[in-house]
Amino acid sequence: MAPPSGHSLLLISMLGILALDCFTSGQKNSTLIFTKENTIRNCSCSADIRDCDYSLASLMCSCKTVLPFAVERTSYKGRLTIWFTDTSALGLLLNFTLVQDLKLSLCSTNTLPAEYLAICGLKRLRINTKAKHPSPEQSLLIHSGEDREPRDKPLLSHTGWQTCTYVSFLDLALFNRESSLKSFSIDDVASMANNFPYFSHFKTFPILSNKSYVVTFIY
Ligand SMILES: *[C@@H]1O[C@H](CO)[C@@H](O)[C@H](O)[C@H]1NC(C)=O
Ligand SMILES: *[C@@H]1O[C@H](CO)[C@@H](O)[C@H](O)[C@H]1NC(C)=O
Ligand SMILES: *[C@@H]1O[C@H](CO)[C@@H](O)[C@H](O)[C@H]1NC(C)=O
Ligand SMILES: *[C@@H]1O[C@H](CO)[C@@H](O)[C@H](O)[C@H]1NC(C)=O
Repeated sequence: MAPPSGHSLLLISMLGILALDCFTSGQKNSTLIFTKENTIRNCSCSADIRDCDYSLASLMCSCKTVLPFAVERTSYKGRLTIWFTDTSALGLLLNFTLVQDLKLSLCSTNTLPAEYLAICGLKRLRINTKAKHPSPEQSLLIHSGEDREPRDKPLLSHTGWQTCTYVSFLDLALFNRESSLKSFSIDDVASMANNFPYFSHFKTFPILSNKSYVVTFIY
């Protein structure tokens, strides 16, 4: 048999590098934040933890306590999972943040108010309401568009938030229902407040610039 040519050696080593790349990026930790009895724990986990298993998370992940008044508007690059029991903590952690891949698990039987959360740049959403009713996990792909969001810029101010292109509004009452997750998107919405005079929540959202957005309602 002829020895492998220079070309195939090159190919083999390139494949090797690719495989190594996949392997190391597959090991990237994901962020898990959970709230329990007025404490917020921010964890970095290398493995998937069964939803709402607080003790397993404390055991398997590297967690820090976050004081509620120290929570700032931020952005998350990788996967973010939040286990929550009420909307106040969830609003604090998630309202007006940039997250692309999000999983929300309701870990109580509480009925949530019909409040909205505004999220920038959301691409994939998964929700789990098993603690409340025995429905399987649901997922939704919102958009797979190119990254037009200011990825590394934390959305610390309302001015930063205005640079967001993909805006998702999540109706928290969806956690009360057993019906499937639904969404609709409106492209090129310029000056949203004028386009949705009937949507009362809109007036309270600080999205006021005249540039166009892609707005997705999830309910
Ligand atoms: C949680 O930790 C990550 C880093 O691991 C950080 O980027 C993020 O801002 C933290 N979130 C909160 C709410 O403290
Ligand atoms: C990844 O998670 C493990 C625990 O699952 C932790 O020990 C490690 O410090 C984390 N790595 C980073 C970079 O956060
Ligand atoms: C998110 O912020 C908006 C605007 O300030 C507010 O109306 C809404 O109630 C907040 N949502 C939650 C869940 O806190
Ligand atoms: C947005 O457009 C309106 C008219 O449609 C104009 O009066 C207003 O000054 C514009 N605002 C900005 C921030 O460009």
